Amino acid sequence: MSVVEQLKEQQSQGLAAIMAASDLTELDGVRVAYLGKKGSLTGVLRGLGTLSPEERPAVGKTANEVREALESALEARKSELSAADMQARISADVVDVTLPGRKHPLGTRHLINRIAAEITDIFVGLGYQIAEGPEVELEYYNFTALNHPPQHPARAATDTFYVRDLSGDQFDGPEPSGVLLRTHTSPVQVRTLENAEPPVYVLAPGKVYRRDIADPSHLPQFTQIEGLVVDEGITFADLKGTLDHLVREIFGPDRRTRFRPHFFPFTEPSAEVDVSCGICNGEGCRFCKNSGWLEILGCGMVDPNVFGHVGIDPERYTGFAFGLGVERIAALKYNVPDLRMLVEGDMRFLRQF
Ligand code: PHE
Repeated sequence: MSVVEQLKEQQSQGLAAIMAASDLTELDGVRVAYLGKKGSLTGVLRGLGTLSPEERPAVGKTANEVREALESALEARKSELSAADMQARISADVVDVTLPGRKHPLGTRHLINRIAAEITDIFVGLGYQIAEGPEVELEYYNFTALNHPPQHPARAATDTFYVRDLSGDQFDGPEPSGVLLRTHTSPVQVRTLENAEPPVYVLAPGKVYRRDIADPSHLPQFTQIEGLVVDEGITFADLKGTLDHLVREIFGPDRRTRFRPHFFPFTEPSAEVDVSCGICNGEGCRFCKNSGWLEILGCGMVDPNVFGHVGIDPERYTGFAFGLGVERIAALKYNVPDLRMLVEGDMRFLRQF
């Protein structure tokens, strides 16, 4: 076989190998085998010098043609294979934009927290500060400093959750003292007044605990909001005006309030406040047990004995306090027939608010 024939043979083998290469690595292997430093075509071109001067031009020309043919075939195949490679990657990573998205269920604010926040906002708007106290409380703050006598029934272990019961203990100051789950937010009154000089305008929302079995109108854990004002010249009229404002803000401008005389050890005089029934508008119906009124909170003028425990001069200052149950307000506002529904965590119920 002449050298020119050998070259033609190499060209057709090379072109076949290029077409047969199925990926870029294989194709590069073919390139090295023919056109690399030790490639077969390179070998022929190196051997040109050994040819006779007559043979050289024809062989040189053919060799160049073969190289060009192989190079352009390599180039063409390369872009074919890269395109195929890209296509394969695209279809492997495919994102089907027509698929429905994954749903992340949206949470809602719990009704109790929402109403507590609404009430807080009303009082912040009146210039009150927010105060907090511990849920695990000393008996001293929960009862003693709030003027509960030692034998007061609310202190009984049947009504209050005790963490440490020191009943019968001779010393009944701040320390040592029985430890309990606070039964109301009123101990925050004492803690606030221990640390502040009047004028005091505070609101204290928080959880409270009582040894009650859960039923439609009782929960062993519920939420209260305590209000406390101590300043010069505060009267029952200030208390009444403040609570009237609160009730209209919560229930709407058409609702009326009624103050009934009541008793709390730490306020004197004391009252319970009713709001006119929103279902019968005060006419009397099943919801309000035919009275036309619904009880919403307890309140009164701060008892001078409480001032005595915190060193505030009762001749100079007077004050009022109130405490309301948030679950009860929620139930009255939205006609929830059973307080337990508020704490059971059933989303079908809670999502309505
Ligand atoms: N702490 C009382 C209760 O839980 C409510 C109350 C608060 C009454 C402040 C008067 C003043 O029933």
